[in-house]
Amino acid sequence: MPPVRSVGGADGWQDASMHDRLPPTPSLSPMRQAIALGTDPYAFLLEQARELGPVFTLSLPNDRRAVVVGEAGLVKALWAMTPEQIDAATQPGLPINLGPNGLILLDGEQHARHRKLLTPPLHGKALRAQAGDMSRRARQMVDAWPLGEPAPVLPLFQRLALDVVLECAVGELDPEQSEKLGAAFIGWMDGMLTPLSFAMVQLLPARKVRAFFDRRAMRSRVRADGSGRRRHLPWNRLADRKAYVMAVIRERLAAVRAHADDEAHDVLSMLARTRLAEGGALADDEIVDEIVTMGVGGVETTANTLAWCIHHLLDHPEAMARARAEVDAAFAETGVDPTRLDELPWLSACLDESMRLCPVSLAAPRRLARELRLGAWTLPVGTDLWVSSILAHHDPERWEEPERFRPERFLDGKVSPNDWFPFGGGRRHCIGRAFASVEMRIALAEVLLRLDLARAEGSAPTPAMRGMTVGPSDGVCVVARRRG
Ligand code: HEM
Repeated sequence: MPPVRSVGGADGWQDASMHDRLPPTPSLSPMRQAIALGTDPYAFLLEQARELGPVFTLSLPNDRRAVVVGEAGLVKALWAMTPEQIDAATQPGLPINLGPNGLILLDGEQHARHRKLLTPPLHGKALRAQAGDMSRRARQMVDAWPLGEPAPVLPLFQRLALDVVLECAVGELDPEQSEKLGAAFIGWMDGMLTPLSFAMVQLLPARKVRAFFDRRAMRSRVRADGSGRRRHLPWNRLADRKAYVMAVIRERLAAVRAHADDEAHDVLSMLARTRLAEGGALADDEIVDEIVTMGVGGVETTANTLAWCIHHLLDHPEAMARARAEVDAAFAETGVDPTRLDELPWLSACLDESMRLCPVSLAAPRRLARELRLGAWTLPVGTDLWVSSILAHHDPERWEEPERFRPERFLDGKVSPNDWFPFGGGRRHCIGRAFASVEMRIALAEVLLRLDLARAEGSAPTPAMRGMTVGPSDGVCVVARRRG
């Protein structure tokens, strides 16, 4: 009998008495379920859905349970739930100390307030201005692309996504500072999102793991100019990197406040400008946590999605040829113009189809704040739910030949948010969706316009957990040549 804990506690513990009210659970032991999820996430979830149906309960170590939901009607009901009925359930499994004030970890009124303030810097006029920066960064990536030898595309896209998101977040830095900030950010993020840290949050409450690193970051002596004593123990080294990132953001914030620029379109400047506006602006600590959250939310997701798309295009030469012809027709004369991305319907459809087959985020996590009748089950308060894109995206009831790459299904633009949701859904859908869509189309167009890619011999990527996302195991190895 597992220990009885309070229902809906901060770390996902649930009362033993609720278990018989949950949907069926796989026959594997909790540890084997966690291992299968970590090593072969898509195949494991799809296999359970075939055996148990589109709603089942994962049973993970430490008596943690998650109800996985893939059925269309139930997905629709979950997207429609109000903040009084449903919370985010990011807290229980998140090993990285983003900071307590980032959107991903907030609920209720605070979440709504932050979302309202963060929406303008990632959409509309600001996004149109940022698209120019994305284009410049994508050109730089292709200029420096390794030619004539096998190289994985993933690290190139990671660097692009990092540079783009940091520039959008804090504005243009001088090259040296940009390099240092990028290196510290990646070093911190990669160090925090290892298989070991995921194992740790299976065994210890994630909230305590994050608090441990936060305390160490607060004691760091590292300053924004890079000076200050650095520590050597591995966890202190990680904490120093986070402290450096935060110090740079704080310094930028102070500079932005001192020399207000009403035209600046980076997130930091726009959030700083809301300070005097009616309706409550964000405090400095909140802004810093939001910028860090954007960085973590926007790098691995975008980079892995781009890598998967290249993988699918390489596997389907006819789709690749059509995408290239479309890019050439639009941009061979002018170079990639971010204001004319709507001239790339086929490329956009390839990207959408690639996200259908390989969504980098397995599920949108939610936790019930009220009891819920879901299909045949009555789920108690505190139940963790995973609204599962992988199940929905591969459901033969919703998609003809779901395992085939057929971009044409996206050409008419009529896709239900209950059938296709690589960016999640409802009130908490990805706030960076429009941003990422622009960035990814620019990056792919730039690559196709200027490079010929061939798959490197022996490269056969499979889905693997990479931090919080599912990416191609070998990073998609290609040999690139400049187009004549
Ligand atoms: C291809 C790229 C991306 C994918 C596939 C993706 C996917 C997702 C998903 C599945 C969620 C959870 C949604 C839910 O719970 O319903 C999410 C949330 C979020 N994403 Fe993204 N994301 C991407 C790019 C970005 C970018 C570029 C940014 C920042 C500029 C970003 C920032 C966030 C934030 C802050 C949240 C939390 C939203 C909230 O809780 O209200 N993402 N993303």
